[in-house]
Amino acid sequence: MTDIFAKIDSGAELTRQDLVEMLSLPDGGQSQALFDRAYKTKLDYIGPKVFFRGLIEFSNICEKNCYYCGIRRDNKETARYVMTDGEIIRAALWANECKYGSIVLQSGERSDKNFIDGVERLVKDIKKGSKGVLGITLCVGEQTEETYRRWFDAGAHRYLLRIETSNPELYKKLHPADHFFEKRLECLRMLKKIGYQVGTGVMIGLPHQTVDDLAGDILFFRDMDIDMIGMGPYIVHEQTPLAAEFPDFTQAKEAQLNLGLKMIAATRILLKDVNIAATTALQALRDDGRELGLKAGANVIMPNITDVKYRDSYQLYQGKPCLNDSRECCKGCLQRRIESIGETIAFNEWGDPLHF
Ligand code: 5AD
Ligand code: SF4
Ligand code: FES
Repeated sequence: MTDIFAKIDSGAELTRQDLVEMLSLPDGGQSQALFDRAYKTKLDYIGPKVFFRGLIEFSNICEKNCYYCGIRRDNKETARYVMTDGEIIRAALWANECKYGSIVLQSGERSDKNFIDGVERLVKDIKKGSKGVLGITLCVGEQTEETYRRWFDAGAHRYLLRIETSNPELYKKLHPADHFFEKRLECLRMLKKIGYQVGTGVMIGLPHQTVDDLAGDILFFRDMDIDMIGMGPYIVHEQTPLAAEFPDFTQAKEAQLNLGLKMIAATRILLKDVNIAATTALQALRDDGRELGLKAGANVIMPNITDVKYRDSYQLYQGKPCLNDSRECCKGCLQRRIESIGETIAFNEWGDPLHF
């Protein structure tokens, strides 16, 4: 094996094979060395800080039927909800008072007029209510260019749309026939063209996914000139078709977590100046998973600020943390967690990635 660490330190261009090598490092000492190296890159480019984005999961109604997701259309065991405008705006303005800098409005995917108008109105109201201070990110799926443009003009400046996997063949295995990889790609291109800061990401450790696929994902982020990356381990949800393809998931949790951390580290090492989230899925696998994400090179955390009464119904995967914890609770908890690893929260900042 060539010494991958020597190659990283030399500053030479890293290849797909180098990424595969990083992602294949055994758990323990060698993985830890990778995390430490990535953390150093993060300190060099960003410093010991974490940006907060308050996450509002405002509805779990979804027109789509992704095989892995707990709120897919065909899951009849989930009670469907939409938060009221009042609840959403209160959550957003709470984040503003807490100086979170920005929020993310996330929901299942809908394309009806009510939804499109509603999101536009919310963006405008939140912008106005925060006197333009609060940054607004949308994460509400595939839409038409016109819709994306309307929301951008209303004041949203970032958009998250995960590609889920950059391998079109694998994409087909994870989605019904009427969900199209090409369409997703086209949406990402439209979002960039309109002027959004664009975030994407993948699930890590999916059935049928190889480390070569994951290396391809990182190169995809680079080639698409992506500003923000949100990716996390795949976690089984029993009420979904994909669960059957990962029967021994309970025994695989630690491996899933480690692979997720290696992806963060390898992405930081290759891309350097992008924003990378330490996603909640990491914490679903281990209590201190998000801190481990930060120590492997991530620099963004999305504290959940959804009203507690809805959290049970927004479970894309099982074992989601903080189901009964109020937004005040999560704020204090995350603050302690972040301080415990010697980092500070960058309050009052939009936290745009240097890359943008
Ligand atoms: N495990 C992990 N992540 C999931 N997502 C959906 N279902 C799961 C799951 N079972 C992720 C997808 C989606 C994001 C909102 O949540 O990547 O884009
Ligand atoms: Fe809907 Fe998104 Fe879940 Fe797919 S991953 S079913 S689009 S909420
Ligand atoms: Fe929600 Fe700890 S992050 S209670």
